[in-house]
Amino acid sequence: DRQTRAITTTSNPAAAGQKRSRSDSGNKVTVVLGAQWGDEGKGKVVDLLATEADVVCRCQGGNNAGHTVVVDGKEYDFHLLPSGIINPKSTSLIGNGVVIHLPGLFEEGDKNDKKGLKGWEKRLIVSDRAHIVFDFHQVVDGLQETERQAQEGKNIGTTKKGIGPAYSSKASRTGLRVCDLLGDFKDFSTRFKNLVHQYQSMYPSLTVDVEDQLKKLKEYAERLRPMVRDGVYYMYEALHGPPKKILVEGANAALLDIDFGTYPFVTSSNCTVGGACTGLGIPPLNIGDVFGVAKAYTTRVGIGAFPTEQLNVIGELLQTRGHEVGVTTGRKRRCGWLDLVIVRYAHMINGFTAIALTKLDILDVLDEIKVGVAYKLNGKRIPHFPANMDVLHKVEVEYETFPGWKTDTSAARKWSDLPAKAQNYIRFIENHIGVPIKWVGVGKSRECMIQMF
Ligand code: GDP
Ligand code: IMO
Ligand code: MG
Repeated sequence: DRQTRAITTTSNPAAAGQKRSRSDSGNKVTVVLGAQWGDEGKGKVVDLLATEADVVCRCQGGNNAGHTVVVDGKEYDFHLLPSGIINPKSTSLIGNGVVIHLPGLFEEGDKNDKKGLKGWEKRLIVSDRAHIVFDFHQVVDGLQETERQAQEGKNIGTTKKGIGPAYSSKASRTGLRVCDLLGDFKDFSTRFKNLVHQYQSMYPSLTVDVEDQLKKLKEYAERLRPMVRDGVYYMYEALHGPPKKILVEGANAALLDIDFGTYPFVTSSNCTVGGACTGLGIPPLNIGDVFGVAKAYTTRVGIGAFPTEQLNVIGELLQTRGHEVGVTTGRKRRCGWLDLVIVRYAHMINGFTAIALTKLDILDVLDEIKVGVAYKLNGKRIPHFPANMDVLHKVEVEYETFPGWKTDTSAARKWSDLPAKAQNYIRFIENHIGVPIKWVGVGKSRECMIQMF
């Protein structure tokens, strides 16, 4: 039970045998995570919670993410900046688990500044342990995609933001971090050149103007310097000081997780709950609510298995009605029925305490609505989510069919405003996953979120 989990302290003999409960381990962190293949509406859920948050953190991913927030009719898209940056009263933190493309970060900030988001640089804190995505990582991302296409006849369909190559550098221990950039620049330059050489030996066509890159990086370093802190100590103080509301905004989603997603058609970080701990330096004991965000149907950008995909008029209708176009790449998103097998799988890993079900309004015009409830292999139901993509391509989806409500729900603001058939659809989902649905989304803006409890 999440609320009553306790640990025994053995390091201090006087305290040995005593139970330390969650309540005295410091402030609790609320985590918002994608429960499908991304673009579930995490930005919108974070925005809703961020109005009361003191700190909003990103813990993984980079500017492959694209989070939309609509406030007072104005639409913002965030990629590296936590969506909480919109709230002038909260601090935003980019944690050690994030990979940062500095030109991308400042471009995003300046673009939002022009839209009226003033003072973002003063509200942003960047962990000194975060790794840097260089321009050449982005070029290599493109080269790797071309190579995959040539070798295997298919690529991953990455965002080409350099995410895979930057996390590869991190894992091979040749990556460079924010603290390196702000340290001795001569030393940084040597390591940068070595890293470039390493990639050039793998990709001989890669050209890098090293001097020009270093000149630009030096300029970025000075602009970044005032925002940089020891992220671990910052979090420690936030957790153990006076009561604070701390929010973690997951990027990407469970099925894109490097360990649990539909590998190799995934991103390169942990987008599940563990990523909040490792990407910020938060003890598991400080994790409070874990909110899963799921669309009332399913979408996916890029390549990879998608058992409930509808390559027909239904898929087209969901795509056009839902404006299902990637925020980062502008690609059309693939669409299909809600797949509860994957949402349940995401729950097995994340232990959601509640779910936000978004975009219910998109289903308003359908005569009937299907929901994937189980996978069958050779005619037999399987209880787990297959690791092997060949197997996932072969599963047969078992559906439940619901009558459509054929009513506009976009003006609904409370549960009782929803048609009975929509309520029935929502209750079925809730019972099937075994997690309460806390919010139902019926439109893009802040107020279009029905709160259930
Ligand atoms: P994220 O990456 O999870 O933050 O999601 P995206 O911003 O990439 O995609 C979600 C899209 O759906 C955005 O355009 C949102 O404005 C929109 N959206 C979110 N919730 C709702 C909803 O309940 N109804 C409708 N119609 N649109 C929504
Ligand atoms: P948000 O946070 C949807 C997908 C890409 C590609 C795969 C790998 O907005 O939900 P990468 O560039 O990360 O190496 O690409 O992952 N992908 C996303 N799809 N939403 C995202 O983020 C995504 N981040 C990565 O389309 O298939
Ligand atoms: Mg998105």
